[in-house]
Amino acid sequence: MEKIHHLIKAEQLTPPIIGWIFQKAEEFEKKLQQKAGSLENLKGATVCSLFYEESTRTRFSFERAVYNLGGTVISTENAAQFSAANKGESLEHTIKIISGAGLPHGRYADIIILRHPETGAAQKAALVSKVPVINAGDGSGEHPSQALLDAYTFKKLLGRLEKFNICFVGDLKFSRVIGSDAILLSQYPGIKMFFVSPKGFGIKDELRSSLQKKNIAFEETDDIKKVIEKSDIGYIVRVQKNRVADQALLEEYRQNKDNFAVTEEVYRMSEKRGTFFCHPMPVDEREKEIRPEVENLPRIKMFEQAGYGIPVRMALLDLIWQNQKI
Ligand code: NCD
Repeated sequence: MEKIHHLIKAEQLTPPIIGWIFQKAEEFEKKLQQKAGSLENLKGATVCSLFYEESTRTRFSFERAVYNLGGTVISTENAAQFSAANKGESLEHTIKIISGAGLPHGRYADIIILRHPETGAAQKAALVSKVPVINAGDGSGEHPSQALLDAYTFKKLLGRLEKFNICFVGDLKFSRVIGSDAILLSQYPGIKMFFVSPKGFGIKDELRSSLQKKNIAFEETDDIKKVIEKSDIGYIVRVQKNRVADQALLEEYRQNKDNFAVTEEVYRMSEKRGTFFCHPMPVDEREKEIRPEVENLPRIKMFEQAGYGIPVRMALLDLIWQNQKI
C-alpha cells in the first residue's frame, strides 16, 4: 500500500488505501458502539483545524475523531476572520508557522486540516507544510475525505462498492464533492454514473475527460426522473450559491428545481429499485433539494451518512499519523 502523507485529491485514495481505511473504520465503529475504553492512536498528536470557510459536519467530525483517538485539537472559529489572514498574511506563511518550518520543536501542530474558499489552496499549503495537510474542501476543487465517507456509506447500504448505478444530481459544476466522489468510484468495476444538472451546472470538462479516458460508463441529463428508476444511489447536492455569479442561471434553476430534487414523486418512482438517497449536507432550506416531506423516510440516508464521518475520519487520521511517525 502506498504511503499517504498529505491528502489533497481523491485520486490519491487507491483501492488498497480505501480498503485499509474501511476496515479500520469498521473496527472504530464497533469500539464506539461498545463505548469500549479510550483509544490512544493519536496520543501525543495535536491537530490544527484551520477552516477559512464555514463548516458544520466536516470540522466537528474531524475534531471529534481526534478526541476519540486521544489527540488534541487547536482551532479557530473562522480562520478567515480570526487568523492573521485578516491582516493580510499569506496562506503559506500561516502554514509554515503552524507546521514549524522555522523551528521544528516550535511546531504548533502535527497534522493540519484545511478548508479554504480557493481551489488549489490545499496543494499550495502542502508545498510549504512540514506536517501532513488534509484537504477538507478547497473552493470548487476537491473534498477527498467526504468522498471516503460517501463510499463507505454506499458500501454499507449496498453491501458492495462495485457494480451499481449512481446518479449525481444538482450543481455538479461548483460542488467539490461530486468530482472527488466520481474519481474515487471510477476505480471500481461496473459503476455506471448519471449526471443530472440544471443548465450551466454540468460536470467540469476535466472530470468528463478523466472518466472518458478510463472508459467509465456515464450519461448526462437534465431531470432526475429520467434516471432514478435505474439508480441504486441518488446523490443530491445543493446549488453552491456562494460560488455562482450568474443570476440568470440561478433563476433558471429555480424555475425547474423539481427536476433536481427528491420529491414525493421521485421517492415513489424509486420504490421498486429501492434507491437510497444521500446528500453531503447542508440541504439548502430555501431550495429544499430533499423535500421535508420525504427527509425522514427510510431510504433517505443523509443523517446516517454524516454519522459515518466520525469513524471514517478516525481511520484516515490514524493512517496519516502512523505514516507520519515512520
Ligand atoms: C459540502 C462541502 O462543504 O463541500 N459539505 C460537507 O462538507 N459536508 C457540501 C456543500 O457545501 O454543499
